[in-house]
Amino acid sequence: MSGIRRVLFATGNEGKMREIRSILADTGAEVLSMKEAGISVDIIEDGATFEENALIKARAVAAALTETDCVVLADDSGLVIDALGGEPGIYSARYMGEDTSYEEKNTNLIGRLEGVPDEKRTARFVCAIAAVMPDGREFQVQAAIEGRIGYEQKGEGGFGYDPIFYVPDFGKTTAEMTAEEKNRVSHRGKALEQMKEVLRKNEGFDR
Ligand code: IMP
Repeated sequence: MSGIRRVLFATGNEGKMREIRSILADTGAEVLSMKEAGISVDIIEDGATFEENALIKARAVAAALTETDCVVLADDSGLVIDALGGEPGIYSARYMGEDTSYEEKNTNLIGRLEGVPDEKRTARFVCAIAAVMPDGREFQVQAAIEGRIGYEQKGEGGFGYDPIFYVPDFGKTTAEMTAEEKNRVSHRGKALEQMKEVLRKNEGFDR
């Protein structure tokens, strides 16, 4: 059987590329970034959910692709805070403006939760991943990691909202975890593992 040989991951983010390369390493598939595939498309993410936005990205990149043997994957992720009605949610990257530092965004969110007790500070990082196959079939997965918004920023690792995302099971924020620890339990790590299994079941890899 000839399985999936090439996967294109629709992101410009090197951290995400490292993660997907390490998760797909055992499949024998070649993993390409947009840059490596020579693709640049302007994508308007106007979906109402993480799933819709991931699919919009994957479809746009698949449409721009001239190679016909490549599976296209795209992800959309963000932080959902229950006490703020789900904010910043699908607007996580754009919250307070793309150019505002995460130091400021995190300070702002902690401020908005002033007086909110522990049990109401629940939040989750969510990641949706969409796949568009060479024959047009589409697959979707979504995963989350549950946590609570802390009272101060802690940790130097990770990125974005990691310093305020406290994971009770670990007793620390995702910014205080090592990359390996975080990848094992994170929304993106779990969604990527799920997608790998979906692809394995529906199409297969060489290994
Ligand atoms: P996108 O999925 O690249 O569109 O962006 C999602 C945004 O959500 C990021 O810019 C971060 O603000 C936030 N986010 C997603 N995943 C994480 C994470 O693992 N840690 C911290 N922030 C995250």
